[in-house]
Formats: sequence, C-alpha cells, structure tokens
Amino acid sequence: MKIFLDTADLEEIRRAAEAGLIDGVTTNPSLLAKAAGDRNPRELFREIAEAVAGPVSAEVVATDAAGMVAEGEQLAQIHPNIVVKVPLTEEGLRACRTLRSRGVGVNVTLCFSPLQALLAAKADATFVSPFVGRLDDVSSDGMRLIAQIREIYDQYAFETEILVASVRHPQHVVEAALLGADCVTLPPSVLWQMLRHPLTDHGVEAFLRDWKALGKPLL
Ligand code: G3P
Repeated sequence: MKIFLDTADLEEIRRAAEAGLIDGVTTNPSLLAKAAGDRNPRELFREIAEAVAGPVSAEVVATDAAGMVAEGEQLAQIHPNIVVKVPLTEEGLRACRTLRSRGVGVNVTLCFSPLQALLAAKADATFVSPFVGRLDDVSSDGMRLIAQIREIYDQYAFETEILVASVRHPQHVVEAALLGADCVTLPPSVLWQMLRHPLTDHGVEAFLRDWKALGKPLL
C-alpha cells in the first residue's frame, strides 16, 4: 500500500521523505492556504515535488471543466510528479477525461459514495479519493465505502487506485490496508503515531541498559 502525506508543510514532507516513509504527497486548497503564507503556490508545489519521489496531488480551484483543464495543464507543467486533483462533480469528471486523454494524472477527490467512485473509474481517474473521516463525522461508515469500492473495482478490473483520504487515526490505516486499498494519505500526526509503540520504546531502553551494565564496547 502506498503511503502519501496529506500536507503542504515542506518541513514535514522533507522529514518523512528523508526517512523513506512516504511514496507521495496530497494537498488540497485548505492545506495549501495553511502552508503557503506569502509564498508563490507554483513555487511551493515545485519544492514539494522535488522533495518526494512520487505523485504530488495539486488541486484545481476552477469550478467549470474548461477552467479545471486550463489550471490542470499548468499545474502538470510544474513538475512531472504532479497529479491534478479535481472534485467529483460533473465538471470535474469532464475535466478528468480531458486531462487523462492528454496524458495528465488525475486524482478525483471528495468521493463519498460507491457510485461516485464507479463514475470516477469510468472517467479513467488515476486515483479516486474517498473521504473516510468526513463520513464517520456524520455517523456514516467510511470504511464500508472503501470495501464497496474495492469490490466494484475488482469486479470490473478498473485500474483507478483507491486513495483513502480524510484519515483521522492509525486504525483507519489498519482497516484500509486490510481492505486492500491501494494508497492512504495521512496527516503528519498520524504517520508519526503509526511509527510509535510503547513496547518498542521500553524494549530499546532495556536492551541499552543491559548492554551498558556489562561495560564493554560492542565493536
Ligand atoms: O486531502 C483531502 C483529505 O484528506 C482531507 O481530510 O481531515 O480535511 O477531512 P480532512
């Protein structure tokens, strides 16, 4: 399963990429607005794409297909790793088809139902992003959506990758992996939480204490 970092924070991206923990990055206009400050968004996307060896989702803000295609083409020119993110609307799916026919990778985002995911796959999306946390927030079942999409995509051998988004905690990642999701995108806090286990920390402390008690160099 591919692990993407869901942030536009360069420091977090570099830390995770240098540790070899991530396969790409996803952003959205809210995350970009939070990280950009005075920076030029184009420049920030370029730096993010240079920091990680894998897809970097950059989202359009136009709401009509022609505008999304125009923005998407410009975004795709920033760096070969850029994947254009479009919303799962009629205009977004039109833009998806056009961009895909021009060889641009597309992440169709804001997916909340299996039927929306079916339409995204038929529009040849590279990735579809179902938002599990936002479904859980409204007492729906985000992970059931992932299971449904997995079954539908397998049934028809769609190649669109399921990119589990709106992840809120490590258990979402466990469930996404058990269901065979292709990718997850994680806020940095969840990535670092995944790494930690108190028994690992205790184990390292005990090993070091025992070895130190012997009073010899290891090598
Ligand atoms: O990038 C899209 C998605 O991961 C957003 O998550 O936490 O704002 O629902 P959230």
